[in-house]
Formats: sequence, structure tokens, C-alpha cells
Amino acid sequence: MKFFVDTAEIADIKDLAATGLLDGVTTNPSLIAKSGRDFLEVTKEICAIVDGPVSAEVISLDHEGMMREAEILRKIADNVCIKVPLTIDGLKTCKALTSDGTKVNVTLCFSANQALLAAKAGASFISPFIGRHDDNGFDGLDLIRDIRLIYDNYAYETEILAASIRHGVHVLECAKIGADVMTAPPAVIKGLFKHILTDKGIEGFLADWAKTGQKL
Ligand code: G3P
Repeated sequence: MKFFVDTAEIADIKDLAATGLLDGVTTNPSLIAKSGRDFLEVTKEICAIVDGPVSAEVISLDHEGMMREAEILRKIADNVCIKVPLTIDGLKTCKALTSDGTKVNVTLCFSANQALLAAKAGASFISPFIGRHDDNGFDGLDLIRDIRLIYDNYAYETEILAASIRHGVHVLECAKIGADVMTAPPAVIKGLFKHILTDKGIEGFLADWAKTGQKL
């Protein structure tokens, strides 16, 4: 499973990129606002840190506006992936951009039918929002399961990018279901490295090593 980080914070992206485990980055207008940075400037910086796709979201709601903004965004770097909302205009834009060889991430997906439409529109990635689905009384993981089944039924190449991930269990279950990618906040990804028994084990080994009086 590919790991993307869902943030526009440069320090966190650098930190995770240094592990060699980071396959891409996703941003959205809320994350850009949170970073306090200029959208185009920070996107350019992120694209220079990671080789994989960096999702940058359009703001317009109409097809013409989305195409105009995509034109600006895709000039930033070769690894920019245009993020569009799952609306009729968003999918029209997706079809136009992907036919032209541009990577598109269709975001704000909350139903398997929406995911089917995105695949038909040639989306490179579909982003079902697990956490927000859970928050509203639905099972976000069931959504991932349904999309996996439908995409496999028709051999769609659109990658399932599980988004709005809130904790390690979401990551684990997405991996079991077979999501192609997951995007999570830096804290959730860093949390995956942690286990109390790993820490205790290190503590025990170091204590015993000290008793040997040896140096390496
Ligand atoms: O970037 C899209 C998605 O991951 C947002 O997550 O936590 O705002 O629901 P969240």
C-alpha cells in the first residue's frame, strides 16, 4: 500500500520523506489555510521534496474555472496531481485532464456510486473520506470495501486513495481490504511506528547491554 501524507507542513513532509516510506502528498484548501503559506509557493516546495504525486485542489466549482486553475497548478511541477471535487463539473474536468495525460485525484467521495462515476471519468485516484463518513453514522471502511469490489469487477485502474484517516486501525483495515493508497496526517503515520513492547524491549536490551560493560 502506498503512503501519502495529508498535510502542507514542510517540516513534517521532510521528516517523513527522510524515512524513504513516503509515496506522495495530499493537500486541500483547509490544509493550505492551516499552513499559512502561499498556495502555489508551498505546492512547489512540496513537489521538490517528494517524487510521487502531490495533490493540489482547484477552488472553482464550474468546469471552465477548474480547467483554468488546473492549467496554473500543473505548470508548478511534473508531479502535481489535480484534485477536483466529486461533482458533475469536477468529473467533466477529470475526463478532460486525464485524457490529456494529467493525473487527477477526485475528492470528497462518500458513496460507491460516486466512485464508479470517477472511475468512468478516468480518475487516477478516488478519495473516499473514511473518518468523515464514520462521523456521520456510516461505516467508512464498508465504503472502501464496496469500491474495491466494484473496481475489481470491471478492472478499473483508478487507485483507491483512502482519505480522512483518523487512526492506525483505519490504516490496518484499509491494507486488509486492499486500498491502493492511504493518506493520513503526520501524527497518524508516526504513530504506526510505535508499540509499547518495542519501547520496553529496547529499554530491556539497553539495560542488559550496560551490564556487559562492552562498547561498540
Ligand atoms: O485531504 C482529504 C482528507 O484526508 C481530509 O481529512 O481529517 O479533514 O476529514 P479530514
